[in-house]
Amino acid sequence: MSVTILGIETSCDETSAAVIVDGVTVKSNIIASQVELHRKFGGVVPEVASRKHLELINHVVLEALQQAEITHKEIDAVAVTYGPGLVGALLVGVAAAKAMAYGLQLPLIGVNHIEGHIYANFLHRPHLEFPSLCLVASGGHSDLVLIERHGSYRLLGRTRDDAAGEAFDKVARALGLGYPGGPLIDKLAREGDPAAIAMPRAYLEEGSLDFSFSGLKSAVLNYLNRARQKGLKVDKADLAAGFQQAVVDVLVDKTVLAAQKHKVKTVMLAGGVAANSQLRRQLQGAARQHNMQVTYPPPVLCTDNAAMIACAGYYKYLRGDFAPLTLNAVPGLGLGADKY
Ligand code: KG4
Ligand code: ZN
Repeated sequence: MSVTILGIETSCDETSAAVIVDGVTVKSNIIASQVELHRKFGGVVPEVASRKHLELINHVVLEALQQAEITHKEIDAVAVTYGPGLVGALLVGVAAAKAMAYGLQLPLIGVNHIEGHIYANFLHRPHLEFPSLCLVASGGHSDLVLIERHGSYRLLGRTRDDAAGEAFDKVARALGLGYPGGPLIDKLAREGDPAAIAMPRAYLEEGSLDFSFSGLKSAVLNYLNRARQKGLKVDKADLAAGFQQAVVDVLVDKTVLAAQKHKVKTVMLAGGVAANSQLRRQLQGAARQHNMQVTYPPPVLCTDNAAMIACAGYYKYLRGDFAPLTLNAVPGLGLGADKY
């Protein structure tokens, strides 16, 4: 018997619903992005995001069912992101999922957003070996997670200040590139020389698996300010390339170090920053050197989407890990620390 999961994701600025079968077949993955709406503010405005989710959620869920060519009768469970994220945004998805689970008498599954990002890898590679390591780099997180088996996570390292994606967004804003910054810097950096402008790399204390990107961000801002004061022209492509190279060097070095320390041979990338072309290339190269296997989802499954939530939900379904209808949004939810 196959298992069909409806996934719902509204933790930030994408309203998304997806239907997946047996954790691998993506029947639909509707993503209504609010990027245009938030662009004029240079970032996500929480209140605006929740209102937009409210407006879109029913349409997006219906479209996911229609595109998957199924009716609600064929759904086996509803999986929803309940944290971490913006509370008002999360609440819209959680309320919609609870209403459907109650109305249709279906099991409800609460999914951690970071767990969802990790599981984007399992959509294409359901037989990934354990233990494995995942670098989750997004707008809110830069985590190194050891996964011993399905649903078992150990946080080995995290950012002490800005997340990698946050640094990309802030630097892109300072360069006048727009929002979200990651893809724009990725593109511009291809025309620049990463060695032209020296950028700092924060490795922290010996052996640390934590990250810090705020010093690098400040170095870019200081470089721009100094150039402005002196009336010098800035080569934006070189600056973007130098910044990106510094982020990627640290992410790759620490990921390899973590894998070696914990004797892991399977390394995954997840989160929006996992779409970065230089990060993918460089980690692939480093993994080859160290005899490790690297996997990453296609770009559309790296950024926020409901297919990854439905996939994580599928493995919870198999474990019988269901949430009660009292499930609430938990904006600061930690990985492996389910609260229901
Ligand atoms: O996972 P995600 O969609 O949302 C969060 O959970 O935060 O990640 C969004 C982040 C943004 O900061 C965006 O600039 C970054 O991922 N991002 C990238 C790229 N594509 C998206 N960063 C670097 N290179 C990219 N190609
Ligand atoms: Zn995300």
